[in-house]
Amino acid sequence: MNAILKTIFAKHQDRPGALLPILHDLQHALGYVPDDAGPLIAKELNLSRAEVHGVITYYHHFRRTPPDRHVVQVCCAEACQANGSEALAAHAAKHMRNGEVDVEPVYCLGLCSIGPNIQIDETELHAQVTLSKFDALMQELGDGK
Ligand code: FES
Repeated sequence: MNAILKTIFAKHQDRPGALLPILHDLQHALGYVPDDAGPLIAKELNLSRAEVHGVITYYHHFRRTPPDRHVVQVCCAEACQANGSEALAAHAAKHMRNGEVDVEPVYCLGLCSIGPNIQIDETELHAQVTLSKFDALMQELGDGK
């Protein structure tokens, strides 16, 4: 993790308000923010450990344990809601109960005019996701495990 953190620190060096971008990059790289990263980040940014811990725990977005399943983010912002994201989120929750994926709400993925939209594992964006399209995507995830 230290090498990853060094690269991330270099990227955000001298940037005001670097804490959130650093946490986002770390989670993107590792899938979560390990507890032992907090003190290293605090030292790098000259913040207290409590300040860093407070930010990590305040935002639900940051995971503190490694994801052991795929994470599906369902956009629940206004435009996607108007196109059926509530039904999609409810449908996605069934897959979560079956232990296939973790489902999280997210508030805008930047594809508002072609919703409802989802993102898988913070990398794959999918637009105009119908219930059957969602099932097909979950099938692909299952096959790729
Ligand atoms: S409202 Fe869903 S992508 Fe913007």
